[in-house]
Amino acid sequence: MSSVAPVVNAEYMAEIDKARRDLRALIASKSCAPIMLRLAWHDAGTYDKKTNTGGPNGSIRFPEEHSHAANAGLKVAIDLLEPIKQKHPKITYADLYQLAGVVAVEVTGGPTIDFVPGRRDSSVCPEEGRLPDAKQGAAHLRDVFYRMGLSDKDIVALSGGHTLGKARPDRSGFDGAWTKDPLKFDNSYFVELLKGETDGLLKLPTDKVLVEDPVFRRYVELYAKDEDAFFRDYAESHKKLSELGFKPPRAAALAYKSSGGNMKGLLTRTATMVAVAAAVVAWAYLHGPNKKLD
Ligand code: HEM
Repeated sequence: MSSVAPVVNAEYMAEIDKARRDLRALIASKSCAPIMLRLAWHDAGTYDKKTNTGGPNGSIRFPEEHSHAANAGLKVAIDLLEPIKQKHPKITYADLYQLAGVVAVEVTGGPTIDFVPGRRDSSVCPEEGRLPDAKQGAAHLRDVFYRMGLSDKDIVALSGGHTLGKARPDRSGFDGAWTKDPLKFDNSYFVELLKGETDGLLKLPTDKVLVEDPVFRRYVELYAKDEDAFFRDYAESHKKLSELGFKPPRAAALAYKSSGGNMKGLLTRTATMVAVAAAVVAWAYLHGPNKKLD
């Protein structure tokens, strides 16, 4: 693969923190959380486990890929993110797009999703046809998500991403939102799904199969009645999706995780630990057996 791994050091992580803030501001001012989430998902959702190709590698930035029919409209999101990329050039497109997806979920009221940086950018675009076709059924959904290495539970939890946004006739041919408040991330997608066709909200054929298939339906029922369960499973599945084919640089993953995504906090804690260690050594020196203070 023609890609270079970014060097994930303290400086890179500090840039990630800054980009996270810029993303919050962008998403708040443009109300563009839905399309940011869709961009992150479409960059990642091309992954093929067998060949280890596609996945969250930023390749969707190229016209060759964003011109695929399934990606109609996503150029808007790519263009909105470009100024943030220019401001933080060290950050790879792959990391930036996945970070945008994570922030989109968080700022609309969804769960906190663990984000580990270090994805490589690729200039190799997958062939068209790897993303799911909304007109098909359960077997197709399983084909596509199993190819990524994801499970039935992941399919249902991630479909809950349709709590945000809407379909547009000029993009997908479908029209309307799945929920009454498409800028709020909650479990209402599942609540509406169980109500059936009565409320005028959108249901794609691939949404409907989630209530028709008995295995999928168990999760729909659980998530409709227990939002905490949905948030817990969604955060886990979203992290998996955002890391398909990605092996986080180990040291970076641990350091970033222990900092809770906050490098300033990590540096402060490290400085405190060094200061405490120095004080202990000084005390030992002054009070040790051979060092009497006269
Ligand atoms: C399960 C298979 C899926 C199918 C067949 C599917 C299909 C679609 C379609 C047809 C649209 C409308 C696009 C438009 O007209 O602009 C859409 C929008 C959207 N999808 Fe999915 N999707 C799937 C899974 C997902 C997943 C896993 C996520 C995220 C976790 C997601 C997030 C979104 C969002 C947020 C929008 C709204 C975008 C906007 O408002 O601009 N979708 N999807």
